[in-house]
Amino acid sequence: MKVAVIGAGYVGTTTSVAFAHYGHKVMVVEKDIEKIKKLRNAELPFYEEGVESLLKKLIEIQLLKFTDNIELTLKQSEVIFITVGTPSLPDGGADLSYVEAVGREIGKLIDEYKVIVTKSTVPVGTGEWLKSVIQEELDNRNKAIPFDVVSNPEFLREGKALYDALFPDRIVVGCESDQAKVKMKKLYADVGKTTLFTNIRDAEMIKYASNAFLATKISFINELARLCEKTGANVNQVAKGMGLDTRIGEQFLQAGIGYGGSCFPKDLQAIMYLASEVKLPMTILEAVTEVNRSQSEWFLKKVENSLGTLEHKRIALLGLSFKPGTDDIREAASLKIIKHLMQHNASVTAYDPQATHHVQSLFPEVTYASTPLEAVKKADAVLLVTEWEEIVDTNWQQVKQLVEQPFLFDGRNALDPNKMRELGFRYDGVGLA
Ligand code: UGA
Repeated sequence: MKVAVIGAGYVGTTTSVAFAHYGHKVMVVEKDIEKIKKLRNAELPFYEEGVESLLKKLIEIQLLKFTDNIELTLKQSEVIFITVGTPSLPDGGADLSYVEAVGREIGKLIDEYKVIVTKSTVPVGTGEWLKSVIQEELDNRNKAIPFDVVSNPEFLREGKALYDALFPDRIVVGCESDQAKVKMKKLYADVGKTTLFTNIRDAEMIKYASNAFLATKISFINELARLCEKTGANVNQVAKGMGLDTRIGEQFLQAGIGYGGSCFPKDLQAIMYLASEVKLPMTILEAVTEVNRSQSEWFLKKVENSLGTLEHKRIALLGLSFKPGTDDIREAASLKIIKHLMQHNASVTAYDPQATHHVQSLFPEVTYASTPLEAVKKADAVLLVTEWEEIVDTNWQQVKQLVEQPFLFDGRNALDPNKMRELGFRYDGVGLA
């Protein structure tokens, strides 16, 4: 099939690679000329494992093209995906101005039946609104061109986006016409996973509800971790025991210093904004947000209690990205931690395999190391913030020899407490006995 993808951001690029991999001819439209040049050379503007090599291959066999020519792309495509950003507005709502701009372009340019699909995360009701935006432009042209709007939310995890795009657990398609349904079935024919067809509003809500539920699991286990610590239980064991119940499931019960990223915090804000508009309290999600906000504070309090004070202490931070496998630092726990440490006059040295350059511009006063071992030299405390494999597999014996004081705080419960204690560390994790 001929597919257009509007917006070569993270979701747009990864989704395009997946569609092209499944044999569709994909044209990606992007306004930023520099970005197009890079993408044509198979260079990604972000770090995501596996995408670049597949991108290169798909460009070579001409299943994937990047262009700034939206008119030509729309003319040549049966299905048009909108994958532009929907950032948070100051009031917590989603900024739909990029979606609107694309909708207007579509209304101005299409000349035959098209299926227009929103993949960007958009509030419930956006599909209907988008329909009216496109229709308005068609009316301005006095054209009666048929089209359908479909909602097909993405469920990609950063760091595992390619895998999730190629092998999704499920495909959700909010679709209200048979003609569009046939096209969407054809598009996903080779993916071979359960496709749930719903109406547009349901699909839009499924996306927000899924992220809100996953964030709830994380905040639940993080709050429980605080209780485990007070009562002498081990949250890892508790999560394991709970997770064996298939009704609960083991995933997203990893206690830590809170969730970050471009999705959970933004989507929770957006769903709560949606609820506030219809005057409905979202008691659970408010608590989820509050637990997440305070989780890094709770963790830092433990550091402060152990060291006596943070003032003039040398703190080594291992990991800066919001999770391993990505250079994304949006809403990363590391940023809150650095801010807090700076406010308390600690001196911070940080290491991350991919995200350093992003943090450097925000916190020039931090010292940035090029290896974990360089970061921990003479540290009064080492804080594991992101569980990159490289960090977890560091030579901890050597770390022990390099530090000033043996305080080791594992914000992701990624290390073996017994082993660390045997090496002589005063090890502390999250919710461990
Ligand atoms: C999340 C969802 O997992 C995807 O399904 C969704 O498509 C995506 O948002 C989106 O809306 O685009 P992502 O934000 O990339 O994906 O990353 P996650 O793997 O979900 O992790 C989010 C945060 O939760 C990270 O900071 C991670 O460290 C934290 N986390 C995750 C925990 O603290 N504990 C866990 O058990 C799992």
